[in-house]
Amino acid sequence: MTAFERLLLANKAWAKEKVQEDPGFFKRLASQQSPKFLWIGCSDSRVPANEITGTDPGEIFVQRNIANMVVHTDLNLLSVLEYAVHHLKVEHIIVCGHYGCGGVKAALSHQNLGILNKWLRNIKDVYRIHEEELTALDEDKQLDRLIELNVEEQVLNLAKTSIVQKAWKHRQGPHLHGWVYSLANGILKTVSNIPPGARLESIYEFNDL
Ligand code: CO
Repeated sequence: MTAFERLLLANKAWAKEKVQEDPGFFKRLASQQSPKFLWIGCSDSRVPANEITGTDPGEIFVQRNIANMVVHTDLNLLSVLEYAVHHLKVEHIIVCGHYGCGGVKAALSHQNLGILNKWLRNIKDVYRIHEEELTALDEDKQLDRLIELNVEEQVLNLAKTSIVQKAWKHRQGPHLHGWVYSLANGILKTVSNIPPGARLESIYEFNDL
């Protein structure tokens, strides 16, 4: 059996098991989804949103990209955010980074990675904002801390969007969370927390929402 055939076989077994556990499982999910959470995570294969949070299909709306970035020119991210916030009306948005993130590590280096340079430049900007704190740390601690600071900045980037600010004005949600996952022990650590309606530096606040 080839590697991809193994996936298809495992899928059949999984679907069968789900129905045995809960005969209405697929019928219920096929008609609608009403997740309470939007997850913006890293594409890293070791950080699967549902598995590490013990959640089922239907519970988390997911967007993943290299190094869990919230980039304001990323039409994919913005479309997911708009749909999750204004149509699904999620109550929480989680930006989840992880220690040992290859994307952040690459951004911290001087490697020329072609088209990836443009994506990773956003992380280099986070480094520049926090350069004073980061240069005082040794190399290992620097990477861990940049991973945490990057999550904090991406959570702030969510708050800077008119999409989130409009929801805060009209329905007092969603709550924004920044988490970092440890590959070493599987535990999530909270690094950032912005409740609905929080005030930002005034330059980022929009009128007429
Ligand atoms: Co990563």
